Amino acid sequence: MSISQPIRYSSDLESIRDDEKETIAGLNEQFDVIMQKTAEDYGHAVRSVHAKAHGIIEAAMTVAAGLPPELAQGMFATPGAHKVFLRLSTNAGDILPDAISLPRGLAMKVLDVEGPRLPDAEGSTQDFIMVNGPVFQAPNAKKFLSSLKLLAKTTDRMEGTKTVLSSVLQTVNKGLEAVGVASPTIQSLGGAPNSDPLGETYFSVTPFRYGDYVAKFKLKPISPDLTQRTDTLIDATVRENAIRETVQAEMQETNGVWEFQVQLCRNLEDQPIEDPTVEWKEEDAPFVTVAKVTAMPQDSWSDVNVQKVDEEMRFSVWTGLDAHRPLGNINRARRDPYRHSAEFRARFNGCPFHEPSH
Ligand code: HEM
Repeated sequence: MSISQPIRYSSDLESIRDDEKETIAGLNEQFDVIMQKTAEDYGHAVRSVHAKAHGIIEAAMTVAAGLPPELAQGMFATPGAHKVFLRLSTNAGDILPDAISLPRGLAMKVLDVEGPRLPDAEGSTQDFIMVNGPVFQAPNAKKFLSSLKLLAKTTDRMEGTKTVLSSVLQTVNKGLEAVGVASPTIQSLGGAPNSDPLGETYFSVTPFRYGDYVAKFKLKPISPDLTQRTDTLIDATVRENAIRETVQAEMQETNGVWEFQVQLCRNLEDQPIEDPTVEWKEEDAPFVTVAKVTAMPQDSWSDVNVQKVDEEMRFSVWTGLDAHRPLGNINRARRDPYRHSAEFRARFNGCPFHEPSH
């Protein structure tokens, strides 16, 4: 079967729902409940979801030269290297012991990107935010909000490994639904594979403007040091921060190379903009590499980078170029809550966030 031509971007590809404003206010309200509880418990404010970081990695993104016109768009129209920060996380709003296995997140900040910026996007960075699965569980923000309400009610005081496992699992189950990655395995026993984040493939899940076109993104490990970790499990039964410790030990001698790929939207029925529960099938819309991300061996939990990235930076799909505008109901609903959550942290911790350069 031949592959269709990519759909051209236009603002009427999006359809705004009547409930969006009200839903966003509701999201902020629930995130406040979660953050207030965790901040009081820890004496320090953490992100309202993806609170626990497992690694902060410095890397470089090299945009390929000679890309065909449909791929040479936005920041990918200019070949060359950019500094990058990666933050590896799991999706709960609590800092849970790693024995509770959760889906993985990867936030990436690409520095010194040129071009007109999205409204309110400070600095000169382009953020990409991904998880290790191709779809989101909630079809729209309103549904996401109803799960979040359950989570906010059950956000518990956590006391590390002393926490009673059943109460943790309860929180996790609710948490998973709220962040949209329900897993029957985890929900039954908390037994999802505790995979090594260095071997995982990450997806944007939601679509973005890609200059003249529309795309979803993917970050795929390709160097043997990374691919040998794919499907390897971390034993976190006795170590609360086993993932962080494993990543740190491995990154001491890992040459990491990932391909950054884009999947252009080619048919609005099979690759919808508004519903991220629908996977864009690769047979109809292939992923193509536009850049490489490389990381040298390093300390992935250095005090300096933890302070700089985990504490003083915020990641948001709305921090970036207008040419990579987030699209669809879920993405529109992320704009205000990401800032709201980061501002809560900044206020509570007395530590403003910064957009880095160089
Ligand atoms: C309506 C939908 C969503 C809402 C309201 C939401 C909300 C949030 C908030 C408030 C934060 C914390 C921001 C901060 O404190 O700096 C966050 C972080 C995050 N979200 Fe979402 N999110 C949504 C959808 C998604 C989707 C579809 C993905 C999948 C790619 C995702 C992946 C992540 C990741 C990986 C982080 C951690 C970012 C970091 O490392 O700083 N979220 N989200």
